[in-house]
Amino acid sequence: MASVDDVMKAMSTVMEPELGRDLVTLGMVKDVVVAGNKVSLKVELTTPACPLKDKIMADCERALASLPGITDTEVRFIPRVIAAKTVPDKEAIPGVKNILAVYACKGGVGKSTIAANLAVSLALDGCRVGLFDADIYGPNIPLMLGASGPPAARDNKLIPLEAHGVKLMSMGFLADENTPMIWRGPMVHGAIRQLLRETDWGELDYLVVDLPPGTGDAPLTLIQSVPLSGVVLVTTPQDVALLDGVKGIRMFRKLNVPILGLVENMSGFVCPNCHHETAIFTKGGGEKEAARQKLTFLGAIPLDPAIAQGGDKGVPLVVGQPNSPQTKALRWLAQIVAGQISIANMK
Ligand SMILES: Nc1ncnc2c1ncn2[C@@H]1O[C@H](COP(=O)(O)OP(=O)(O)O)[C@@H](O)[C@H]1O
Ligand SMILES: [Mg+2]
Repeated sequence: MASVDDVMKAMSTVMEPELGRDLVTLGMVKDVVVAGNKVSLKVELTTPACPLKDKIMADCERALASLPGITDTEVRFIPRVIAAKTVPDKEAIPGVKNILAVYACKGGVGKSTIAANLAVSLALDGCRVGLFDADIYGPNIPLMLGASGPPAARDNKLIPLEAHGVKLMSMGFLADENTPMIWRGPMVHGAIRQLLRETDWGELDYLVVDLPPGTGDAPLTLIQSVPLSGVVLVTTPQDVALLDGVKGIRMFRKLNVPILGLVENMSGFVCPNCHHETAIFTKGGGEKEAARQKLTFLGAIPLDPAIAQGGDKGVPLVVGQPNSPQTKALRWLAQIVAGQISIANMK
């Protein structure tokens, strides 16, 4: 009969593909029980949104099946999201394990759309997620997730609203949506920090932040005031060169914020009738630029009217059309991002 040691030996042949080490070395194998012909155990994953969990499961089952006398296996995944490392001079938000930002140099490239679908995708995978709309000039997260304020308060903290399994906070909940917001530098600084810190986020695995565009005070305030696990850069095929206008990449590198990867949004048009994809702008620039800048390419999200309609209706595409190819691309993006965060936190 196989012993617990035999099981551990078999499990040490199973690699965590992204982290590049075996599950036993990584300390991920827990609660091994051998009873007659059955082995049961738990594998601690670094995120419920693990992009390769099907492969890891198949590899575990294969390894265990090779043990003599074992005919029955029960492998269960339990998530244990690793928190970002502490950064000197940057105060973490208590209870929030990782803060990740979504950024683009320009407005209108789909930053909020990506942030909304990314946050909801992580929640669909079982993560505890918040979404902070730091774009005080154009707060459209409330509209995109179908939530409206004002938020309630308790013990001097604001209670985030909740939609599609994600906790939300936005300046848009506090102000009349028809009133344009005019902010001066110091006000921006104060308002974003205050709203972020005075929200009662509770326990979160990931807090996604929709950053304002540009390289001015508004994004800088946030980037400099909280420890970021990393940033997702959004570009469109026709704006790839702007990225190289190096503004975005250079700003994050200078501020020591890890860049989790680059996503090319509005990449080609998918006809809603015939599903044929037409490249409106030259495609593939994002992937090339990512390679040139040594960044992870997080995928290309086509221009799909359903994505815009989902945003207008407050039902992100990943919820509204769970089986569409664009949803698959967005869910994959979220998993790769979660995987990149785990890798960065384990270093
Ligand atoms: N892949 C896409 N396909 C279709 N429409 C999109 C896509 N991405 C974004 N949009 C739409 O483009 C507009 C701008 O997107 P938004 O996320 O608000 O950009 P940003 O936050 O960068 O200003 C919105 O109307 C949004 O619904
Ligand atoms: Mg936006």
